[in-house]
Amino acid sequence: MLFDIHTHILPRMDDGAGSSAESCEMLRTLKQQGVDAVIATPHFRGHKDTLHGFFARREASYAQLMKYYDREVMPEIYLGAEVRYFKGITESPDFLKLALGESPYILLEPPYGVFPDGMVAELKNFVNAVDEKLIIAHVDRYLSTNPWETVCALCDGEKIRGQVNAEAFLRFIGRKNAVALLENHVCSYLADDTHNMQKRKPMMAPAMKQIGKHCRQDTIEQLIRNHTELYHAVKKGALR
Ligand SMILES: [Fe+2]
Repeated sequence: MLFDIHTHILPRMDDGAGSSAESCEMLRTLKQQGVDAVIATPHFRGHKDTLHGFFARREASYAQLMKYYDREVMPEIYLGAEVRYFKGITESPDFLKLALGESPYILLEPPYGVFPDGMVAELKNFVNAVDEKLIIAHVDRYLSTNPWETVCALCDGEKIRGQVNAEAFLRFIGRKNAVALLENHVCSYLADDTHNMQKRKPMMAPAMKQIGKHCRQDTIEQLIRNHTELYHAVKKGALR
């Protein structure tokens, strides 16, 4: 199954969908592209958001969207967050409450550029001490500023997994890296990270087409298995 684990489809929640109409258009497009389920992952930025405020805004936005939701032509929707890393975030009790649906996975976004000093060690210590696991958002974006070895050392494919953005497969420059991220199991997941219907519209189907052309069959089968397993964990709280 195709399960999009990183989207900004909730209306007026962050820099994603600007209205319920745009959310619905994004969801219909995702469904047309073969996506069966999505996780809404609005940005959580600990220096600006409180957990209570974030959950209240997310619930309100989701409730607004549900007024127009049509199961026949839209994917299932689960709730999560894209959590921005800052030094010490893993020590916050709030961090554990930001998992994707019922799963033990937290979608974490490092700051752009060079990884902050101590970040890799902090994240490794975190996953070794708790049951939760991490998914690093759009790993493809960090390859221009961090050595391949550093990125590989962070995303071990077990307790810290990588996610590559669909758009990385659609640009000639960068596609080679995106393919290598999947082939080397640095990234376990593909996601859209769609924000709107203009410059960041859903691209899962075109990305899957490129993956079909450039990746090995066993890599593609593993990718689909990873997504299916995560779907069940998000839905029912398994995969620990
Ligand atoms: Fe995102």
